[in-house]
Amino acid sequence: MSEQQFDICVVGGAGHVGLPLALVFAAKNLNVAIYDINQNTLKTISEGKMPWLEEGAQPVLEQVLASERLHLFNDPTVIARSKTVIVTIGTPVDEFLNPVHRVVRDCLDDLLDHFRDGQLLILRSTVFPGTTEWLARRLDESGKKIKLAFCPERIVQGFAIKELQGMPQIVSGATPEAALAAHELFGLVAPETIELKPMEAEFAKLFNNCYRYIQFSIANQFYMIAESAGVDYLSIHHAMTHHYPRAKDMPLPGFTAGPCLFKDTMQLAAFSRNQFALGHAAMLVNEGMVLYVIERMRAQYDLEKMTVGILGMAFKANSDDRRASLSYKLKKALALHAKAVLTSDPLVSDDPELLPMEDVIAKSDVLILGTPHREYAHLDTRGKPIFDVWHYLDAKGC
Ligand SMILES: NC(=O)c1ccc[n+]([C@@H]2O[C@H](COP(=O)([O-])OP(=O)(O)OC[C@H]3O[C@@H](n4cnc5c(N)ncnc54)[C@H](O)[C@@H]3O)[C@@H](O)[C@H]2O)c1
Repeated sequence: MSEQQFDICVVGGAGHVGLPLALVFAAKNLNVAIYDINQNTLKTISEGKMPWLEEGAQPVLEQVLASERLHLFNDPTVIARSKTVIVTIGTPVDEFLNPVHRVVRDCLDDLLDHFRDGQLLILRSTVFPGTTEWLARRLDESGKKIKLAFCPERIVQGFAIKELQGMPQIVSGATPEAALAAHELFGLVAPETIELKPMEAEFAKLFNNCYRYIQFSIANQFYMIAESAGVDYLSIHHAMTHHYPRAKDMPLPGFTAGPCLFKDTMQLAAFSRNQFALGHAAMLVNEGMVLYVIERMRAQYDLEKMTVGILGMAFKANSDDRRASLSYKLKKALALHAKAVLTSDPLVSDDPELLPMEDVIAKSDVLILGTPHREYAHLDTRGKPIFDVWHYLDAKGC
């Protein structure tokens, strides 16, 4: 019997970008394979359970497993049996904030033998500018006749199922043929596609994320200036934005964190020979929020004699993802100043140090709202003071 063939293989398909993408294509009746090295997550998915919170994904997962449109592999040989291969592996920066080019290079070198002539290879991870052109040369040198495209993922984490089908998809190809093939594929799910050259598409993705990171940093900087001057930032924000169209998008302050915005800003800084002054300034402001909060606490309290409780450890509200969360930076920095630091989160399930919220509130002298989960909308701190840079509890009338 001949081996099963697939329309798409998503490499890194057990990840936050790869899995929703695989689900959306499988729900369009394509035959989709996931190839991933993470066996634990593959097992969770094969049992019909979403490994993290992703709105609307659970029923789609159940449906595509039942209809046998989704297949899971821990073995890269499935690549050779797939018409299109989409790569969604993580593309981090290292501890010195340099992009780790090796990740994409090693992954593709490992997979090269499995590619066959005529396939469409789509890079979807956020990559350092020039990566697609570099890969096109690498494929040429190998003698493989692969159509190479770069089509960046721009979803907001947790809402991929909806956004993948509601947002324009940027497509680019190393050749017109590759761009056309990518356009046809994404045309099955996205309402429209926008074509750019590969390096333009790489920049578009990075610029989108850097713009957002800088936007948050302005809100955070204004907040710190206002609070240091002893005035209420929430009132100012309301006055600035209420029925004033030119400021309507101004975000509220918060701990700006997560696996994408910071590292993509640093990728762009590295690309521009560290001459990305706005990006670096945004990083100093956003990362500095943690130290600012601690300084304000120390100015009011003798923290050395106090237990501090952090409520919310995920990197953003209503998410269970704690990757690159500033709540952990808070925890680390507070360990130097407070008698003890206790942490809690109603959604995060992979941190054994977390305690139930009631215990943290009961045992702490002072609290910090690390993440404004909706579970905290009616928070009763039992009279304990709470630092809330998000202004979430004020807005909820707590
Ligand atoms: N998370 C987001 O919301 C988001 C949004 C837009 C873009 N991105 C970008 O998408 C990329 C992936 O991010 P993510 O959040 O999905 O990361 P992730 O860590 O959740 O997923 C990556 C997956 O790739 C797998 N993997 C790693 N190396 C592999 C290899 N050699 N072969 C097969 N599988 C491998 C991992 O096991 C993991 O399941 C990054 O470039 C990121 O910047 C992320």
